[in-house]
Amino acid sequence: MFPAHRPRRLRTTAAMRRLVGETTVRPRQLVLPMFVKEGATQPVAISSMPGVFQHTRESLLKAAVEAVQAGVGGLMIFGVPAERDAVGSGATDPDGILNAALNDLRAELGDSTVLMSDCCLDEFTDHGHCGVLAVDGTVDNDATLEVYGEMAVAQATAGAHLVGPSGMMDGQIGFIRTALDEAGFLDTGILAYSAKYASALYGPFREAVDSQLKGDRKTYQQDPGNGREALREVALDLAEGADMVMVKPAGPYLDVVRSVKEISDVPVAAYQISGEYAMVEAAAANGWIDRERTVLETLTSIRRAGADVVLTYWAVEAAGWLDRE
Ligand code: PBG
Repeated sequence: MFPAHRPRRLRTTAAMRRLVGETTVRPRQLVLPMFVKEGATQPVAISSMPGVFQHTRESLLKAAVEAVQAGVGGLMIFGVPAERDAVGSGATDPDGILNAALNDLRAELGDSTVLMSDCCLDEFTDHGHCGVLAVDGTVDNDATLEVYGEMAVAQATAGAHLVGPSGMMDGQIGFIRTALDEAGFLDTGILAYSAKYASALYGPFREAVDSQLKGDRKTYQQDPGNGREALREVALDLAEGADMVMVKPAGPYLDVVRSVKEISDVPVAAYQISGEYAMVEAAAANGWIDRERTVLETLTSIRRAGADVVLTYWAVEAAGWLDRE
């Protein structure tokens, strides 16, 4: 018997495929993560992330303007301080590199984009952990919350539209929400890194922020094998007032993106992280895969899984490709 149903009919021509395509990726849905390095006099290339730089304050502004002109939906800013200490003082200092850069960006860009800031201590501590340490060397959750509250207010003061707590401390969303409200920042939102896994794929990022970390983050970031636990984290963050929730990394956790999408009544973001970027760049540089097709396929898949917003180091380049469609 010949088949009665022929799904291939809907794939016969490019026009037909275009008509019935289910998933869209638009530049406005992409967020560009960017690094700014204190004291840098010229942009510093990150060897494990070809094409990504630790910016100077000036080059950050220029690249940010270009990204906005390319149509990306937002920018996520990370600071790389010149000096670090045990409590990450540079994070709460209004003149600290991240806050200074946010100030520059908000002055230049106003409300023409959505400015986001990494609200976490790991870039600023001399031990590289995402929080302050207790005397026994473990990360002190509740003492860290106090610092996150201050850091969020400093970032909101400097011009962030959304603060992005990425430290996986318990109660961080509620604590930051209260701190922002008490300081009068009722309209500053929280992009919660709700389900953040202890991933090997953060490797290149650690170079990007000159991370001082020895050891790992397994006492606060999630175990890669745990899916239901992500839903618990998301439910807590929603109850605490998250304006958006995020899954991170993206590509290897698309099942988590999908299940978070099913329970979330706020936009869901996914972060295509440094290692995801590095793997594709390395394979493409070897001629083993087609770079543009691979990048667009990964972004489409993250959107198909349910992400409303995708953080990706390819945001600007992908926006250019997508605009041609
Ligand atoms: C923590 C933070 C990390 C990333 C974003 N925020 C690193 C970590 O948890 O070790 C990783 C992003 C990437 O790998 O692209 N402030």
